Amino acid sequence: MDRYVAIVFSILLGVAAASSRRFPDGFKFGAATAAYQIEGGWNASDKGESIWDRHVHAHPGVVEDRSNGDVACDSYHHWREDVRMVKEMGLDFYRFSISWPRVLPTGFANHISEDGSKYYSNLIDELLANGIEPVVTLYHWDLPQSLQDLGGWANPLIADWFADYARVIFDLYGDRVKTWITINEPIIVCDLGYNGIFAPGINSDNFGAYMCSRNILLAHARAYRLYEKEYKPKYHGEVSISNHIFWFEPATDQDMELTELSKDISIGRYSHPIFSAKGGWPPALERYIAEKSKKEGYSRSRLPSFTQEEIELIRGSYDFYGLNHYTTRTIRPLAAGEAAGVFLVQGISELGVTCGGRPEWPSTASEWFLVNPRGLRDTMLYLKQQYGDLRILITENGYSDSGAELDDEPRARYYKDYLEQVLLAMEEDDVKVIGYTAWTLMDNFEWTDGYQSRFGLHAVDFSDPLRPRTPRRSAHYYAAVARTHDLDATYKFPEEKQEL
Ligand SMILES: *[C@@H]1O[C@H](CO)[C@@H](O)[C@H](O)[C@H]1NC(C)=O
Repeated sequence: MDRYVAIVFSILLGVAAASSRRFPDGFKFGAATAAYQIEGGWNASDKGESIWDRHVHAHPGVVEDRSNGDVACDSYHHWREDVRMVKEMGLDFYRFSISWPRVLPTGFANHISEDGSKYYSNLIDELLANGIEPVVTLYHWDLPQSLQDLGGWANPLIADWFADYARVIFDLYGDRVKTWITINEPIIVCDLGYNGIFAPGINSDNFGAYMCSRNILLAHARAYRLYEKEYKPKYHGEVSISNHIFWFEPATDQDMELTELSKDISIGRYSHPIFSAKGGWPPALERYIAEKSKKEGYSRSRLPSFTQEEIELIRGSYDFYGLNHYTTRTIRPLAAGEAAGVFLVQGISELGVTCGGRPEWPSTASEWFLVNPRGLRDTMLYLKQQYGDLRILITENGYSDSGAELDDEPRARYYKDYLEQVLLAMEEDDVKVIGYTAWTLMDNFEWTDGYQSRFGLHAVDFSDPLRPRTPRRSAHYYAAVARTHDLDATYKFPEEKQEL
C-alpha cells in the first residue's frame, strides 16, 4: 500500500512539475521575416527603389560578403512555400513586413502598385486559408529612396508620408489583418542608419539619429491614431511598435549610474514617449543631452523636444508592447582613445561607454550577440516596473550561427532556454506575455553580415536558383513546443527521436 501511495504521489508530482513548464492555452507562437531580407524581386514589376537597394548597390563593400538582397530567398516567387513551412510547424501566426516601395513605387500614395498590392493580398489570403494569423509590420527598414532623397526620417514631413502609406495598407488589408506593427526597431533605423553603417548610410549620429528618433515616434503615433479612429471600430485590430532591447548590466559596481543612463538612451528613448504615464523623453536623458549640447556650444539641445500636443499624441499609442530581444551586454566607460564597436552602439556612444560581456555568456556568429537567457526575463520585468502591467508580445527572439549545420543543437537550446525565461517571467514575476515570435523562419539576407550569419529555423540553399528550404533541428523542436505548449516537448530529428 505504501508503495502504491508513493507511486500515485510521484505521478501527481510529475504532473505538477510538468504543468509548470507549459505555456497557457491562449499563448501564441509564431515566426518572423522581413521584406528586404527574404523577398528578392527588388526591381520586379513597378517596384520603387528602397534605401537598402541603393545602399548595397552603391556601396557593396558595406556588406561583409559583398552580397545583397536582390534575390535573397526569392519569396517574391516562393511565398507559398513560406506559408507551407509555417503551417508544417503548426504555428499560430506569421509575422512579415510590407515593402513600402513595392506597394507605393513613388513613396507617396498617388500610385498604388497593382502587382505589389496583390503580392501581399495573396500572401495574407494563403495564410488565412491555412489557419495562420498574419502579423504585419509596415516598416522594416526599406524606405523608398525617393523619400530618402527628401531627407527620409530626418524630415518632419515623414510623419505625414508614413500616415498616408499606413492608410493605403489599412484600406487594402485591414479587413484581414488584426495585428499590426508600425515600425520595426526604431533604434536600428535611427542609430545604425545615421552612423554610416546601415542604409541610408549617413554619418550623423549626434544629430541625424535624434531627428530620426523624434520623427519616427511621431510617424508611429500618427499611424496608431489613424487606425484607432478610422479602422479599429470596424476591424477591432491591435497596433504597436517593436523595440529592440539590448539588456544592460553594469560591468562593475562603479558602472551602475552609466548603466541606468544607457537604458534611458537605448530603451527609454523609444519606450518612455509611448508607454510611460507621463510621456515625452526620459527626463534624465533629456537633461543630460541638453546640458551636454550647451557645453558643446550649441544654441539648443541636439535631442529635439516635443510640443505638449506631440507628447499627448504619442503617449498611449499602443495596444501591447512589441519586444525584440536577443542579447545582454555589460556597460563600462570607454578607455582613453578606445572606440565603441559600431554594432554595439545602441545609442550609447553619446555617453562615452561601450559594451562588454561575461565569460559565461557564449558568443554567436554575430559580433553584437552574446547568449544570456536570464536577460529576457530581466528585460520584461524592467518594462513592467517602468511602464506598468503591459501585455507583451515578443516579436523577435532567435540565434545566429554560420548556418553549416542542420543539426543546430545550440539554436534549439537557445530557444528552450529563452522560452524557459518567458515562462518564469509569467509565473514568478506575473508579467503578461501574450505570444512569442521566433526570428527567423528561414536563413535570409542578414543586412551588413550578408549571408555569413544565419538565424533560420530552416536552412536555405542560396546556391540553388529554387532556394530550397530545409527544416533544422531547431524547427522540429520549436514546432513541438508550439503544438504542445510544453517546453520539454519531444520531437523527431531527423529520423530518430531526440530530446534536448
Ligand atoms: C533587375 O535587376 C537584375 C539584377 O538583379 C537585372 O539583371 C535585371 O535586368 C533588372 N530588370 C529590370 C527590368 O530592370
